[in-house]
Amino acid sequence: MKKIHDGPSETGKSIMFCFFFFFLSCFHVCFSELSTNQTSTMIELSRILNISDWNLPGSERNPCLWRGVLCSQPDNGSVISLTLSGFDLTNSSFLPLLCQIQTLESLDVSNNSLSSIPDGFMTTNCETLVGLKHLNFSMNQLSSSSSSSSSSSSPGLRYFSKLEDLDFSYNLLSGNIGDYGLDGLVQLRTLNLNFNNLTGSVPSNLSKTLDKLEITNNSLSGTVPESIQDYQELKLLDLSDNQLNGSIPSSLGNLSKLETLLLSNNHLLGPIPESLSRIQTLQRFAANRNRFTGEIPSAITRHVKNLDLSYNNLKGTIPVDLLSQQLHLVSVDLSFNQLHGWLPPRHVSPSLVRLRLGSNKLSGPVPSSAFQSLENLTYLEMDNNSFTGYIPSDLASCPSLNLMNLAMNKFTGIIPPAFGNLTKLRVMKLQQNKLTGAIPDEVKQLSNLLILDLSWNSLSGSIPSSLSNLTKLTNINLQGNNLTGTIPDKIGDLDGLIELQLGQNMLRGKIPVMPRKLQISLNLSYNMFDGPIPTSLSQLDRLEVLDLSTNRFSGEIPDSLTSLVSLSQLILSNNQLTGDIPSFTKNVKLNISGNPGIITKVNEENGPIKKRSQGKRKRKLVLVAVGVVALVSVIITVIALRFSRQGVNKMQVGSVEEERSMELPEVVRGKLLTPNSLHRSNISFAKAVEAVARQENALFQTMFWSYYRVVMPCGSSYLIKKLKTRDRVFKQASSEQQLELDLEMLGKLHHPNVMVPLAYVLYSEGFLLFYDFAHTRSTLYDVIHNHTGDVVDWTSRYSIAVGIAQGISYLHGSISNGREPILLQDLSSKKIMLKSLTEPLVGDIELFKVMDPSKSNSSLSAFAGTIGYIPPEYAYTMRVTTAGNVYSFGVILLELLTGKPAVSEGRELAKWVMQRHSSQQDECNNILDLRVSKTSTTATKQMLRALSIALACINISPGARPKMKTVLRMLTRL
Ligand SMILES: *[C@@H]1O[C@H](CO)[C@@H](O)[C@H](O)[C@H]1NC(C)=O
Ligand SMILES: *[C@@H]1O[C@H](CO)[C@@H](O)[C@H](O)[C@H]1NC(C)=O
Ligand SMILES: *[C@@H]1O[C@H](CO)[C@@H](O)[C@H](O)[C@H]1NC(C)=O
Repeated sequence: MKKIHDGPSETGKSIMFCFFFFFLSCFHVCFSELSTNQTSTMIELSRILNISDWNLPGSERNPCLWRGVLCSQPDNGSVISLTLSGFDLTNSSFLPLLCQIQTLESLDVSNNSLSSIPDGFMTTNCETLVGLKHLNFSMNQLSSSSSSSSSSSSPGLRYFSKLEDLDFSYNLLSGNIGDYGLDGLVQLRTLNLNFNNLTGSVPSNLSKTLDKLEITNNSLSGTVPESIQDYQELKLLDLSDNQLNGSIPSSLGNLSKLETLLLSNNHLLGPIPESLSRIQTLQRFAANRNRFTGEIPSAITRHVKNLDLSYNNLKGTIPVDLLSQQLHLVSVDLSFNQLHGWLPPRHVSPSLVRLRLGSNKLSGPVPSSAFQSLENLTYLEMDNNSFTGYIPSDLASCPSLNLMNLAMNKFTGIIPPAFGNLTKLRVMKLQQNKLTGAIPDEVKQLSNLLILDLSWNSLSGSIPSSLSNLTKLTNINLQGNNLTGTIPDKIGDLDGLIELQLGQNMLRGKIPVMPRKLQISLNLSYNMFDGPIPTSLSQLDRLEVLDLSTNRFSGEIPDSLTSLVSLSQLILSNNQLTGDIPSFTKNVKLNISGNPGIITKVNEENGPIKKRSQGKRKRKLVLVAVGVVALVSVIITVIALRFSRQGVNKMQVGSVEEERSMELPEVVRGKLLTPNSLHRSNISFAKAVEAVARQENALFQTMFWSYYRVVMPCGSSYLIKKLKTRDRVFKQASSEQQLELDLEMLGKLHHPNVMVPLAYVLYSEGFLLFYDFAHTRSTLYDVIHNHTGDVVDWTSRYSIAVGIAQGISYLHGSISNGREPILLQDLSSKKIMLKSLTEPLVGDIELFKVMDPSKSNSSLSAFAGTIGYIPPEYAYTMRVTTAGNVYSFGVILLELLTGKPAVSEGRELAKWVMQRHSSQQDECNNILDLRVSKTSTTATKQMLRALSIALACINISPGARPKMKTVLRMLTRL
C-alpha cells in the first residue's frame, strides 16, 4: 500500500481512488447497510489515520468490522461508537471529520499523544453530534491553550449537550476549572479530570445528575462548598491531592447515595463531621494527610468499611465501637495522630484485614481477646505507642497475619510460643520493647518469615539453631539483648539473608560461615568473640558494613578482607588485633582504634595500594564505590545465556595487552535507538567495541556495569556502559526480543533529566549501551558523600532535587505515547548522574520491566534495588510500584538534606530520620546537614519544608505517599 501511495503520479492516484470508490459502492450495495455518506466518511478517516488493519485488502467493504468501530444493531445502519484508544495518534486533525458521523454516541480517543483539539471540533460546526453521550480524551497531552479554540473562555463542550460521561484525565489542562463550560452539560453523569493542573474551586454548578466526580491531583483551592449537597446522585467524590482548605461542611452528610469519599492530601481543617456516619451507603472514606483536629466521631464506621484518617492531628481516644461496630469493617488506618488512651475493650470486627494504629500516644494493656480469631487480619501495626502489659497472645489465632509490628512500645513478658502458628507471617517486628525470656524455638515454624526484628529487648538464652531453617529470611536483627551461646552453625544456609545484626549481646565461640548474600551489615560488635578473624568473611563480596568492634579478636587482620569489594565500613576497634593493616581501597572507612598491637603507618595512605595485588588497576577505576547493589537483571541474563558458551571466561580478567592481542570481537547487532539522526553518522559500533577493550578508555565501574569514554572517528565523545559478566547473576531468562522492544521504547524518551540510551550493541563478548558523554560528570552519591570538593550548597541541592523529581515524574507520567509508567527498579543516589552541579539525570532506566519480581525467588535486594532505598512494603508485596519509587526518591532527598548516605553504620537513613522526627518534633534542625543549613535562615526554612516532603515520600504506607507529580509541585513551591 505504502509504496503505491508514494510512487504514482497525481493522476495515477486519482485513478486509483475512482477504482476504489467504484468497488466500495458495489460492496456497499451488496454487503453493507452503512449509508454511503458514513462509509465514505469512514474511508476518509482510515486514509487520514492510516491504521494498518483498517487498510487490509477487502476490509474496506464494511467499516463496521474495523477494529474499534461499532455500528447500530441489528441493521449495521450507522456508526455509533468509535474507540481509537492507544492507536498512537499524534495528530488530531481528523476530529472535525467525525462531526459528519451524526449518529455517533461514543468517542474514545484516550491513550494517544494528541496535544490539541482543532477548531472544527467542539464548535458550532460540530453541533451535528447531538447524540454524543460518551467522550473520552484521557491520557493525551492536551493543554488548555490548545483546547480553547479562541479567546472565548469556553472550549465549547456545551455543544455536546447530551454528554453523560466526560473523561479528560491525565492531560495537561490548566487554568480555572470554571472556564471550561462544564456547567452547560446538563445530563452529565460522570466527570473525570484527574491528573491535570486545573485551578479554581470545586465546581458547584455542574449537572445535578452527576454520580461520579473525580478531580484528584490538580491544584484546586478554596473550600469544599456547602452546595456540594445538591449533587444528590453522587456515588463517588474524589477531591484528593489538591490544595483545598477550610473544614468539611456537614451538609456532605446529605449525600445519601455516596459510596466513596476521598479527601486525602489537602489542607482541610476542623473536625471530621459527625454527619458522615449517617450515609448508609458510604463504604470508603479517606481523609488522611490533612490537618483535621478534634475527636474521631463515634459512629464513623457504622457503615464505612475502609477508613483512613492517618496523618492528621486527631486527638482523644479511639471511640469505643470504632473497631467493633460492624461485621464488614475491612481496613482502619489511624496512624500518625495524637490519639491517646486504651484500646476499646471490645472484640475487633472479625472481617478486619488491616489495622494501623502506629505513632499515636495509645497506652495501657491490649484488652484480652481483642484479636481473638480474626480470620482475615493480615496487617497489624501498633508500633510507636506506649502499650504495656503482655504481647496480645490471641494474635496467634489470626491465621492470615502477614505483618506484625508491635515495635517501640512497653510490652513486657515473653514472646508467645503460640506465635509459631502464624505460618503466613512475613514480617515480625517486636523491637524496642521490654520483652524477656528466650526466643521461642517455635519460630522455626514461621517458614514465610522475611524480616525478624527483636532488637533492643531483654531477651536471654541462645539463638535457636532452628532459625537456620527459615530460608526466606532477609533481615535478622537481634541486637541489644542478653543472648548467650554461639551463633548457630548453619546460619550460612540462610542464603537470602542480607542483614545480620547481633551486636550488644553476650555471644561467644566460633564464627560460622556466614550467608553469602549479606549486604546491609554483619554486626557482631560488643560480644565476646575471640580468636582470629575468620578468613571465610572475605567471601561476602556484597557486604557494605562489617562491624566486629569490642570483642576479643586477636591475630592479624586477614589480607583477604581486601577482597570485600562492596565494603564501605570496616569497624575493628577495641579488639586485640596485631600486625599490619592490609591495604583497603579509599572507599573503605576503617576504624581500628583500641587495638594496641596494630602497626599504623602515618601518611602512607596510598603507598601500599600500589605495591599490593591491586597495583595493576588504575585509581581512576576505583573512583566510584563498587558498593552498588545487586539487581538480577534480565539484560544480564539474556546476554549471559546467549554468550555464556562463547566468551565468559575470556572476559573476566584480561590485562590491556591480552585484550589487544585478541582478534577484534564481532558485532552481532548494533542498533540506533534515538531518533536523532546526528548520532547515526557519529556512532560507529565497531569502533565502540574496539575502544571498550582498551583500559585507557575506562572511567569507573559499578557492580554490573563498566563505564567508558569513547571518542568516535568524527570527534564526538560518548559514554558507553558495558555489562560486566558475573556468573552469580545468571538466573532468569526472558526473551531477547522483549529486551529489544523495551530498549527501543526507551530510546524514544526525551527529557532533560533522564539518561536515555542512544544506541546499543550486542557483540560476541557482551552488551554495550551508548549515551551522550556530556552526562557524566559524576554520580550524585560521589558529589554528596565522597567529600573531595567543596560542600554543595543548598541552591544546588535544591536544583538537583527538583531535577530528579522532574525526571521521575516524566517516567511515571503515563501521558505520552500511550505508554505505561516506567518504573525504576533501582533508584539510588548512585544511579543519578550529574551533568553539572544543578542538572541531574536519572540513570539506569533500562532495568525497567525486564523482570517480574513477583516471579523471583531471590532475596529482596536482588530485585528491588539498593538497600536503604527499598520501601518497606516490597518485603511483602514483592512488586515494584510508583509509590515505591516515591519512597526511594524520598531517601535521595534525605541524603541531600542530611548529607548522610542512605545506609550508615548498618542503619537506614529513612528509619533514622523518621525516628528522630517523631521522637523530638522540635529538633528537626538537627537532622539537617549543618554545613549547609547554618549558612542562611532562608536555606534552613526551605530545607525544613523539603524535609516534610521527604517524610511524606517515605511514609510506610504506600497509599499515603504523594504521587511524584505532587512531590514535584510541592518542591517547586518551596
Ligand atoms: C455527509 O452528510 C453531511 C451532512 O449531510 C455532509 O455535510 C457531508 O458532506 C456528507 N459527507 C460526504 C462524504 O458525503
Ligand atoms: C500548573 O499551573 C501553574 C499555574 O497555573 C503553573 O505555574 C505550573 O507550572 C503548572 N504546573 C505544571 C506541572 O504544568
Ligand atoms: C474473610 O475473607 C473472605 C474472602 O474475602 C470472606 O469470604 C470472608 O467472609 C471473610 N471473613 C469474615 C469473617 O469476614
